[in-house]
Parts: sequence; C-alpha cells; structure tokens
Amino acid sequence: MSSQAKQMMQNFSYDPFDPAVMADPPSYYRVLRDEHPVYYIDKWDTYAVSRFDDIWQVLGINDGTFVASEGTLPAATVLAKHNDGPVADPPLHPLPFHANFDAPIYDSVRRCTSGQFRPKSAANLADRIRTIANERLDDLLPRGTFDLTQDYGGIVAASVVCELFGLPVDLAPDVLATVNAGSLAQPGSGVEVANARPGYLEYLVPIIERRRAGDGDGVPIADNLIGYRLPDGSALSDMEAAVQMLGVFIGGTETVPKIVAHGLWELGRRPEQMTAVRADLDANIPVVREEMIRYCAPAQWFARTLRKPFKIHGTTMNPGQRIITLLASASRDEREYADPDEFIWDRRIERLLSFGRGQHFCLGVHVARLEIAILVTEWLKRVPDWRIISEGAARPPSSFQWGWNNVPVECRVEGV
Ligand code: HEM
Repeated sequence: MSSQAKQMMQNFSYDPFDPAVMADPPSYYRVLRDEHPVYYIDKWDTYAVSRFDDIWQVLGINDGTFVASEGTLPAATVLAKHNDGPVADPPLHPLPFHANFDAPIYDSVRRCTSGQFRPKSAANLADRIRTIANERLDDLLPRGTFDLTQDYGGIVAASVVCELFGLPVDLAPDVLATVNAGSLAQPGSGVEVANARPGYLEYLVPIIERRRAGDGDGVPIADNLIGYRLPDGSALSDMEAAVQMLGVFIGGTETVPKIVAHGLWELGRRPEQMTAVRADLDANIPVVREEMIRYCAPAQWFARTLRKPFKIHGTTMNPGQRIITLLASASRDEREYADPDEFIWDRRIERLLSFGRGQHFCLGVHVARLEIAILVTEWLKRVPDWRIISEGAARPPSSFQWGWNNVPVECRVEGV
C-alpha cells in the first residue's frame, strides 16, 4: 500500500461535496466498499451505500420506504437541514419536478413524458440518429482535430433532444452549452440545478406556450403535459409543465456523449480489443456498448429520503434521514465484477446499475443504448485511425456527473 493510500485509510472521511472527493471519487469508493459499506455523513444526516448488492436491494424496494421528496440530487443547502421525521410530499402547486413525488403523481406525470422512449418508438429513431451522426462526421472529419465529447456525441444527442421537443436542430449547440453549464458542480455545495433553471426554461416554456396556442406540429411530451390533470383536477401552468420536461432535456443531452467519447478512448488504447470489436461490428457493438456504459457512466449517486425505517448491515436508518446510492461505486465493485477497474470489451455483465433500478429507472434507457451503439458504430466505420490528445482532455470535479466533458481528438482519415 502506498503511503498516500495508508494516510487515506487512517484519516478516512467521505463527503460527496468535498473537493478532494469530487476530483477523484473512485479511490474513496474502494475504501467505502471494503471498510464502510454503510457510511454515515453526520453533516448531511445521510448514509452512503457503496456496494453493488446493497444498492441493488435498496433501489428494488418500491413500497414507499424511500421517496425522493427532497429531490434525487439534493444540493448541500437541502441536506444541511436535518429532518425530525418523514418529509411530506411537496405542495401540488407550484408543482416541482414529478420525481419528488411518490405514486400516483410520479407515475402519471412520468407517463406523459415516456411515449417516445418505449422500446418500439425508440427503435424508430434509429435511421434519424444515424443520419445526424453521419452529417456530423461529414462536417468534423475534414477538420482533423475536434472535441469528441462535445462536437460529435454532444451535438448528436442535443439534436435528438431538439427533435423530441419540436425545436429546430440548429439550436443543438445552444442546448448543449446550457446543459453543460447547468451540470457544473461547485465544490462544497453540489449541483445547484435551480440556478441553471432559467437557462433550461427559456427553451421549455415557449414549447408549452406554442402548443397550448395550437401552433406547429404535435409535440407528444408537451401535449400530454398540457392535457394532464392532477388528482385534485387542476391543470399544470406553462412553467409547471416545462419543469416536468427537465429530466428529458438534461438526461437526453449530457450523459451519452461522455460515455461515447470515454468509451472510444478506452477501446482505442487497447489495440487487441479494437481488432476483436472491428471483426464484426453488428455482433460486437451491442456487447462493447454495455462495457462502455459500466465503465464510463458519469453519474455518481442519487438520493432518496426515508419515509419508513430501514435496516442494512446492522444499521437502522430512520424516517427523514437520507440515503445516497453510489452507482459509480457499484460499477467498480469487485464483488460483482472481476477485475472491475479494467476495460474488457466482452466481459460478462449480468446486472448493471448504471441506469438505476426500480421506480426511477432511467426513462431514456432505450434511446440512450441506441444512440451509443450508433455513434460508436458510425465512428468505427468511418475513422480507421485516431489519437486522443490526452493532455487536453478534461473531467471537471463534480459530485454528480464526473465524466470526460472534453476529449480532443485528432483523426487521420484519407480522402476527406
Ligand atoms: C437519451 C438519453 C437519456 C434520457 C432522455 C434520459 C432521461 C432520464 C430521465 C427523464 C430520468 C428521470 C426518471 C425519473 O425520475 O422518473 C432518468 C433517470 C436516470 N437516468 Fe437517464 N436518460 C438518458 C440517458 C442516460 C444514460 C446514458 C445513463 C447512464 C448510463 C442514464 C442514467 C440514469 C439514471 C441512473 C437515472 C436514475 C436516477 C435516480 O435513480 O434517481 N441516463 N433519465
């Protein structure tokens, strides 16, 4: 054990908002999994759960023990307040993001936004995603050097989000920049989604206004939210409806590009694995894609607030306390995956937590898998040789999305 590692073990403390943790979460996760599988953070009255199996169990419980009434990504200002008991649902108006409610409000609003993400509807997007990806490559490859995260996957993912919301794809660069700015976490405080909201809502409120006025083509997500009625019979205001679209707007833009750029980087630095994958792209991309998702998914954790007592590893958590499930730790748990810190394109993945599990399971999972597969396939088809400029790559510290935001790449493509 290195002297640095020894010192870390002796003085170990974990706080997701600690700048040292934000800069390098995996080394903390290893100690948590081995020494403190249920780690209490007094300052935030929150338990951090780090082993795959424990998180699998916790997220599989959907009987109201765990609710997201304080949000799934509460900032430090929320966690600083310690609750005396269970936290009630928020008031119906102004309606916050629906994930803060339990069933039936959560389920019924989520359903308004889910139509285009069902497996069959998602599959129908394949041709369009492939076209957008190739248009991007037509534009980027002659440049020689560009940013693999932002310029390739970023613009493609943001273009798909624009189309889902009936926005012109010309807006994709602006949408991408807005979402990137909103995810930057400040050391000590976490992600202040509320601060970034005006930026997001500048796009989303006008979509609701337009559709309420009957302008333009149908936008299923917006149209369903306009028609939605809460259990008391009331409708959503323009702002309330727009807020329910934030999950798709942010989730759809920010995660896929980081996984694709980081995944291609890992594959590219292992020539034997690259040769094996290239041998049959149709058969192998769905396999390597799952390893890219396990190895590269940037989300670190999500929170729930307890509404009923829950006991795990001899520790009882009480109503009002919080639990954070460290999904990024689960993906590197040696109890679930052999040699977890290695990228192995065809490893056996029987269970995966990168998309969450249970009630809040990622709404975009099918579109996300499709986008990743298409972006990786089209890249490998058209780019025989490339070099990641690693000294220019950036993975900004974050308590939430610790991912490769910038991955400069130099391509050598003949004939373009
Ligand atoms: C097209 C791309 C995507 C879209 C549209 C999308 C959308 C969403 C939405 C709307 C939610 C909130 C669900 C809810 O609370 O009811 C969600 C949750 C989640 N998403 Fe995605 N997502 C996408 C891609 C991804 C990717 C690539 C990953 C990681 C591999 C991911 C991981 C997650 C996780 C872990 C949650 C659960 C959060 C929790 O437990 O509180 N998403 N996603």
